[in-house]
Amino acid sequence: MSVPTRQETEHDLIVVTRRIPQAGMDLLETARTGDGASSGFRLEVVQTREDAGLTHAQTLDAARRADVLLCQLTEPIDREVLAANPALRGVAQMAVGYDNVDVGAATELGLPVTNTPGVLTDTTADLTWALLMALARRIPEAERYMLGGRYKLWGPNLLLGADVSPGGSGRRKVLGIIGYGRIGRAVAKRSTGFDMEVLAYDPFNRDGVEADEIATWAELDELLERSDFVSLHPALTDDTHHLIGEAELARMKPTACLINVSRGPVIDEAALVRALEAGTIGGAALDVFEDEPAMKPGLAGCAEREDGPVTVLVPHIGSASRDTRNKMATMAATNALAHLERERAPNCVNPEVYDTEAYRRRIGG
Ligand code: DGY
Repeated sequence: MSVPTRQETEHDLIVVTRRIPQAGMDLLETARTGDGASSGFRLEVVQTREDAGLTHAQTLDAARRADVLLCQLTEPIDREVLAANPALRGVAQMAVGYDNVDVGAATELGLPVTNTPGVLTDTTADLTWALLMALARRIPEAERYMLGGRYKLWGPNLLLGADVSPGGSGRRKVLGIIGYGRIGRAVAKRSTGFDMEVLAYDPFNRDGVEADEIATWAELDELLERSDFVSLHPALTDDTHHLIGEAELARMKPTACLINVSRGPVIDEAALVRALEAGTIGGAALDVFEDEPAMKPGLAGCAEREDGPVTVLVPHIGSASRDTRNKMATMAATNALAHLERERAPNCVNPEVYDTEAYRRRIGG
């Protein structure tokens, strides 16, 4: 394939749907203004406000004009968007999860799709533990107590929580991990300092769990029945949609806590609200929501209550450390530049696309 000349690339356009962290913007700008093969392309950021996303019409319009689309998990990249422009060369998502992208349609249409795996594993596992500890030791409630001026006297019965380590009972606590990929395993690794027993369920990685030295395989029902903390880490697919619903919640111990940093629809959130309101589980911490950013009716009320299960709610901040978001942005930018240069991108989730006629036609090869 011949290398495009500068005059050719001057017409190329990378559309960044929402402004990405500076390291990624810098990388794109350096490539644009440098003297490399792809320099001279145009760069456009559709939305620079942090608190505003793109409508579907704006996403469609961006796709129509772009040679490469650098997008976020907040934009549904559906068949209509993917099919909007025969000159589109690739989609670079700045996230490890890509359930917002119709990858099947992309492959059919000859479009490579990339993500940002690996870099956010530790950061997301760290947040999982922050949520687990917040649930166990009732941190949000304790803070409200302080800020509300209610702390007048230390008390032997004040804000009693649960142990994570063997603690007063001497019983090792059980951590159940559903979805034993990179992040699930990183969560498991962090449990060793707390002397926990770790159970894992992942029908797509049973061999990985069985070969693992930290976790022990358990069927879903057993994991739910035995765990003190259940942490969810599967990708969102048709199989994992509402993986945790009424029946699964009913299997959990009344003291057990549920943590979700994966994708909201993995839990039937309305069923979770009912369980929290009825007090049939010990608590829940959610970083992701079924109709994100909206919460199901009653969920916020559960977090405000002080006489029921502990509920902790945070706004999808699993990967939100400065360093990790900068690295995700540079990975997404690197992938976008590879799409622009008609090269195999480093983090392609549908690499089979490169061998298709549809891809060759698309890149004019
Ligand atoms: C992801 O990458 O999929 C997270 O949900 C956001 O960083």
